[in-house]
Amino acid sequence: MDPALIELAPSILSADFAHLADQVERAATGGGSVIHVDVMDGHFVPNITLGPPVVKSLRKFTRLPVDCHLMIENADQYIADFAEAGADWISVHQEACRHLNRTLNLIKSHNCRAGVVINPATPVETLSEVLDIVDHVLVMTVNPGFGGQKFIPGMLHKMRKLVEIRAARGYSYRIEVDGGVGLETVADVVRAGAEILVAGSAVFGKGDAKVNAAALLDAARSACLQKV
Ligand code: DX5
Ligand code: ZN
Repeated sequence: MDPALIELAPSILSADFAHLADQVERAATGGGSVIHVDVMDGHFVPNITLGPPVVKSLRKFTRLPVDCHLMIENADQYIADFAEAGADWISVHQEACRHLNRTLNLIKSHNCRAGVVINPATPVETLSEVLDIVDHVLVMTVNPGFGGQKFIPGMLHKMRKLVEIRAARGYSYRIEVDGGVGLETVADVVRAGAEILVAGSAVFGKGDAKVNAAALLDAARSACLQKV
């Protein structure tokens, strides 16, 4: 894989919300190029986080694409609000959308990039009928709901499969990975085919977000270049 295709998407879930602008700025200076926003409703996942007002504030201080990962039920009801608040990418869970094709088209109708997400227990095959219309596919490598969980290595085959399907069918979606991505796991996900790397605690957990982001990107890009 071309290292230039790799992007780091710092997840603000692990940031200090009292200093959000500052933290995002540090992560961006370290090379983060997409801001990942985890939206949780306390129903689809056992946690509650944030909504469109935070996206609106983020929009005021960053020009980077804002990637909203909706871990919510009734996503259709909120897509316009996220788009108006300034989301550039919106992704929804396969497991949470009864009419997935409709929801993905709704996202696109708001001029946002549309992504679909699968939980660890959901096979890639369930996406077969939407892969031609999505801009990105997000493979969860933890069960969604919390930052700082342990990476599930058994998910790597999904990224490989998505690479194969994309080549075989001539699709153009990008492959994103989320959950437990850090210095110990980043080489594996990149080699499996992930291009957009979401990282929360590895960027904002401890130390300086700029240094952490730069180290993670560096490890990811070197892994692309190494033969295994
Ligand atoms: C988990 C979220 C993730 C979370 C990742 O439900 O979707 O984006 O922030 O956190 P880390 O990188 O700490 O596993
Ligand atoms: Zn996420």
